[in-house]
Amino acid sequence: MNHEIYIRRTLELAQRGGVAVSPNPLVGCCIVHENRIIGEGWHQRYGEAHAEVNAVASVQPKDRHLIEKSTLYVSLEPCCYYGLTPPCTDLIMRHLIPQVVICNLDPNPRIAGEGVKRLRAQGVDVHTGILAQEGAWLNRRFFVMHKKKRPYIILKFAQSADGFISKKGEQTWISGKAAKRLTHKWRSEEDAILIGTNTAEVDNPQLTNRLWAGEEQPIRMVLDRTTRLSSKLNVFKDDATTWIFFDPKISTDYYALMNHLDGKRDRMFIVNEIDSSKNMLHQVLDNCYKSKLKSIIVEGGAQLLQSFISENLWDEARIFTANHNLSEGVVAPKISGEIVQQINIENDQLTVLTRQLKQPLL
Ligand SMILES: NC(=O)c1ccc[n+]([C@@H]2O[C@H](COP(=O)([O-])OP(=O)(O)OC[C@H]3O[C@@H](n4cnc5c(N)ncnc54)[C@H](OP(=O)(O)O)[C@@H]3O)[C@@H](O)[C@H]2O)c1
Repeated sequence: MNHEIYIRRTLELAQRGGVAVSPNPLVGCCIVHENRIIGEGWHQRYGEAHAEVNAVASVQPKDRHLIEKSTLYVSLEPCCYYGLTPPCTDLIMRHLIPQVVICNLDPNPRIAGEGVKRLRAQGVDVHTGILAQEGAWLNRRFFVMHKKKRPYIILKFAQSADGFISKKGEQTWISGKAAKRLTHKWRSEEDAILIGTNTAEVDNPQLTNRLWAGEEQPIRMVLDRTTRLSSKLNVFKDDATTWIFFDPKISTDYYALMNHLDGKRDRMFIVNEIDSSKNMLHQVLDNCYKSKLKSIIVEGGAQLLQSFISENLWDEARIFTANHNLSEGVVAPKISGEIVQQINIENDQLTVLTRQLKQPLL
């Protein structure tokens, strides 16, 4: 049996979960009898049935007697504990499935090989590591969250051909309409967007997804160590949740602002206290991890991006380079990594860099 064909199918199915499964991983599953897929499913929404449950449920009544003679292919190791749903290892054993083929082991410390151990102890023939690199790329946000105890970090910026990200002190459109639309698609795929204080002030961005499908807006995160931002800025409007990071030792203005907000705004506006005498990025990332945010996209400006780069705190960078010069302005961050993709988007060139994982993006 060619395991890769069916594991590839599980990876295709897994992708359908999209952001709806966050903070859970994307998982797909198919059940194969003598080279025929008799059932398939994927994890569709956080807290709901796992891929294995949906795959078993999809088997037609006329094929159900074949389940105990089939191979179950799944993109991530079956769970083995009672979480929001019962363990999938129990489901596999209850249906007497004799063989299980897995793409990746689950990095979640509550599973981490225990699912495989339990199945083998019951005599199930288990194979692991099929297309492991592709699976790790698909679930890179989940893997980073568990292994590094921080969200997956994507740095994004646009630069002129001569290496500037804007004119000094004014909002400057560098890339074209298609790049903007693609950026909104990316926003729809991540849990949060982070910007620096100057960017909030100068660009006054809304930081929402308005040009791509998606039910939920990512959380907007803004650094405002000294509480110097005006509450009239777009990031304080109630079209998405906003997290502010500020140092109460410097100013407590945000408590006053909170008190002036009505009930609805109150829920949309979350203040995070930080100690600005310590590393702010670590404190931001710790807060994300505690709130189970799997990914953030850092949308500038130069100072904030450069501090992520200097700290080696990034996983992927997406850089648009326009075909025109600015001659002067805010200098673009300096970054180097493995180029995994370079394509033209209208008049802009998109370069995608990673630090570790090598797979195409689009
Ligand atoms: N082309 C693009 O893709 C793009 C994207 C975004 C922005 N921009 C442009 O970039 C310009 C702003 O960039 P910028 O470099 O001047 O500013 P920035 O990175 O947006 O903000 C810098 C400020 O944020 C806070 N900050 C940043 N990193 C920090 C860290 N590691 N720890 C603590 N505080 C940190 C500091 O605020 P405090 O000084 O208050 O502590 C710092 O002064 C704007 O002109 C904007 O138009 C371009």
